[in-house]
Amino acid sequence: MPRLRMGMIGGGPGSFIGPVHRIAAEMDREIELVAGCFSSDAAKSRAAGESYRIDPARAYPDLAAMFAAERGRADGIDFVAVVSPNHHHLPAASAALAAGYPVISDKPATATLAEARALASAVAAAGLPYALTHTYTGYPLVREARARIAGGALGTVRKLVVEYPQGWLAGEATGKQAEWRTDPARSGPGGCIGDIGTHAFHLAEFVTGLKATALLADLAAVVPGRAVDDDCTVLLRYDNGARGVLLASQIEVGEMNGLRIRVYGDKGGLLWRQEVPNTLTLHSVDGRTEIVHAGGPQLGPDAASRTRTPTGHPEGYLEAFANLYRDFAATLRGEPAPLLPGIEDALRGMSFIDTAVRASRDEAGWVPLTI
Ligand SMILES: NC(=O)c1ccc[n+]([C@@H]2O[C@H](COP(=O)([O-])OP(=O)(O)OC[C@H]3O[C@@H](n4cnc5c(N)ncnc54)[C@H](O)[C@@H]3O)[C@@H](O)[C@H]2O)c1
Repeated sequence: MPRLRMGMIGGGPGSFIGPVHRIAAEMDREIELVAGCFSSDAAKSRAAGESYRIDPARAYPDLAAMFAAERGRADGIDFVAVVSPNHHHLPAASAALAAGYPVISDKPATATLAEARALASAVAAAGLPYALTHTYTGYPLVREARARIAGGALGTVRKLVVEYPQGWLAGEATGKQAEWRTDPARSGPGGCIGDIGTHAFHLAEFVTGLKATALLADLAAVVPGRAVDDDCTVLLRYDNGARGVLLASQIEVGEMNGLRIRVYGDKGGLLWRQEVPNTLTLHSVDGRTEIVHAGGPQLGPDAASRTRTPTGHPEGYLEAFANLYRDFAATLRGEPAPLLPGIEDALRGMSFIDTAVRASRDEAGWVPLTI
């Protein structure tokens, strides 16, 4: 079967997530990066094309040039990956959809909720696949946690705590990645809440299968002069009555990428940590504790099929990302990939950000979370 051909938007020199997408997309040899508009600067787009070792003629200066040229090629791109900053997601994704290309986009889906609604309309009008790379849902043990909860291992979920501590924005925001993330014109009205809070929010719903129905948010811009939040405390209520606590921060000095989730039901509890992603801890109410290892024999079918190496041979971020691309490739072949986040997740995530920002600003207390 020929490989699917990917065009990338964003991912220019010095970018963080573009090269991660390239590696993840190509890991299973189902997809190949062949073209891109990697930067709004034509010379930088060319330089990125060289670093990705694609045909120099296929590193384009703008989106219109890319779509026009690729449409005319027999070996033109099959889909587009959007990995530019948040404010560019809607223009990039809607241009790709209008040109007839399925889209896989990084999160948050857009900069604002209004833009997410426009994106949902564009996806519906095009009738093409759209996927959102909530990376952490690709980890085998996150899939395992989800399967165990769905299978009743924890009983009725009553409480969850999801934490996403980072410390890299504790001081002045310098550097390419920090600059746009602290500028509301490019990040959207949410800072930390949009950058990592939305991952935590999505992970909690993904693992538990619950939907949040209301929240109480306290978002702070701790660093003087910062125009967006950098420290977030959110209480959540879920559709089965469960209570949740979501903590996301980028000013917690010493923390790196400490995403972790704990879920507690009437029969047991579980813990998964992104920095130690190859173990899942399960507690039962009678006092027993089970440690599940990635690659080990206790894994259910979904997690087992998402693991590439035997137990004890660590897998991580890149492999989790590759699992999302594997699902996306399946979608493009017309096969089901029910766990791949899509446009509904995009709308829920943007609604979460928008509601939390407004609720905190207005000191509104508990507010309903509606889509
Ligand atoms: N899923 C994850 O785990 C994860 C991790 C990091 C970043 N992200 C998301 O990925 C996106 C990019 O983040 P990043 O940290 O890589 O940013 P970055 O600043 O490192 O890179 C952004 C790239 O986009 C390019 N770009 C900007 N405007 C463009 C345009 N008009 N046309 C083409 N290219 C353009 C820039 O030149 C740059 O190369 C953000 O939306 C971010 O939230 C997701």
